[in-house]
Amino acid sequence: MANSKYEYVKTEFEPYFETKLLPSTYIVIRIDAHHFSQQQHFDKPNDPQALMSLMNACAVAMFHEFKDIVFAYGFGVEYSFVFTKSSQFYQRRASKILSTLVSFFSSLYVSKWDQFFSQNDLRCTPFFVAQVMYFSWTETLRGYLAKRQDDCHNINQYNTCLWELVKSGKTETDAQDMLKGTRTQCRNELLFKQFGINYNTLPMMFRKGSSVFRDKVEVVVKNRENGDPVVRLREKVFVEHCDIIGESFWREHPSLIGSEDLNKLRSGHSSNVYEYMKDETQVKNKLLPYTWIVVRIDGRHFHQFSDMHDFDKPNDSKALGLMNACAVAVLEKFTDVVIAYGVSDEYSFVFSKTSHFQQRHGSNIVSMIVSFFSSSYVLKWDEFFPHKELRSMPSFDGRAICYPSNKILRDYLAWRQVDCHINNQYNTCFWMLVKSGKTKSEAQSILKGTQTLDKNDLLYKQFGIDYNTLPAMFRKGSFIFRDKAEEIVQHRESGCDPINKMQMKVIIEHCDIIGESFWKENPHLIACEE
Ligand code: GTP
Ligand code: MG
Repeated sequence: MANSKYEYVKTEFEPYFETKLLPSTYIVIRIDAHHFSQQQHFDKPNDPQALMSLMNACAVAMFHEFKDIVFAYGFGVEYSFVFTKSSQFYQRRASKILSTLVSFFSSLYVSKWDQFFSQNDLRCTPFFVAQVMYFSWTETLRGYLAKRQDDCHNINQYNTCLWELVKSGKTETDAQDMLKGTRTQCRNELLFKQFGINYNTLPMMFRKGSSVFRDKVEVVVKNRENGDPVVRLREKVFVEHCDIIGESFWREHPSLIGSEDLNKLRSGHSSNVYEYMKDETQVKNKLLPYTWIVVRIDGRHFHQFSDMHDFDKPNDSKALGLMNACAVAVLEKFTDVVIAYGVSDEYSFVFSKTSHFQQRHGSNIVSMIVSFFSSSYVLKWDEFFPHKELRSMPSFDGRAICYPSNKILRDYLAWRQVDCHINNQYNTCFWMLVKSGKTKSEAQSILKGTQTLDKNDLLYKQFGIDYNTLPAMFRKGSFIFRDKAEEIVQHRESGCDPINKMQMKVIIEHCDIIGESFWKENPHLIACEE
């Protein structure tokens, strides 16, 4: 039964935005850092090494978390994760898989940063953009991976030349001009003749990128009484920096991806390999123009996450404060987000109808929001829980849905706020009953079939609690938006009077958004006329 008259926004709209990936195809999620290097200033000589090692450490951790990942390839600040053909992960729902992976990766990246960059603090919130592809054939997938390794080679060779030229005194623009249109052979010669560098002796990790996969290794689990070792096969995740364009790597690891038509691919004829690229299918979900885009993210396994971190039940003010701080950071970073509404482990971000952010590509938008949010969550954790260690990686899934009219957008927000009320009132009663000595199943049966008024009565009569006096953040959720705020700015030249300047400020309110009054007070948020 529907909880409210607003639930049509879910049942009638969400199915249109759910892409399921074809069965029996390799799913590939490619994750790319978004304009990160420029902001972080990687300038120390060892930074590229540390950066790649950090990316590799995150990739290995992804294998431990997601059992269906069979292979991964990465270089620079990108990584592609390949799922088994038979994977049923999240019923092959594209957005769920994409968002969960990029979110988990982002959390790992931030939390592992210090291990690799003890001298270089994170200066900004790193985030990644991700895309989903699927491949019907092993050959197509191999073609894709070969193309990535070819790009790795070209980019690394170009960058090596560029920085050698810059180090030798050229300006960056001069160096770029010198390298324009050069090919592999020419760059090799430049490196050798001008700088005495044999490109092929540079570290494999940079030239070949990193391939990650599982394999079985023999490990001694214990010794028998007579001293003989008991050996078992155990799975281990390996990182190698080898050629994956030719045949040998795949021949050595036949179990990684299928081997149908291996003969079709001849090593050394890369043009043959790339022909298969034509079959690559990228999920391109361009969102409808002139509609509100809502990106809703939801904590993954937050039931366990909350227990593990001993959050107060049913509401933990600090945990909710952390969610809100991350959402504020999203509004500050992504100016096309006009409103956000959050409750429990979820947040909805509303992009303006006229937004052209990422040319309205759903995967890009969802991945960037969920990634930025996850990175922020890890970065801000200590601020909210200075005495609690972050014991597992938080991750969020995300989806983007378009709503065509202002009324439907308001109904969407009303749907989430009604849900907030229903869940919070139920949870408040449930945990009061449990705290008073009832078992969880007794509490459930007491609450079965009760309506709002019954629950208010129960809280008041049994526990002396007036539900309507509980914190508004618990009862109403959190609504975030920009508002004009006057700021007094000191004039640069001394002796002048300070000037008043109107600035847009991001603010949080815990108010009713179902009725009219909030919208009448803030007409700039959702224009009244259609
Ligand atoms: P998936 O989203 O399907 O991965 O499951 P989930 O475990 O995240 O559950 P769901 O999203 O349905 O519900 C969110 C869960 O997060 C709640 O059921 C709570 O267990 C937990 N949670 C969220 N906020 C709080 C909080 O403030 N305090 C506590 N104790 N738990 C919270
Ligand atoms: Mg959840």
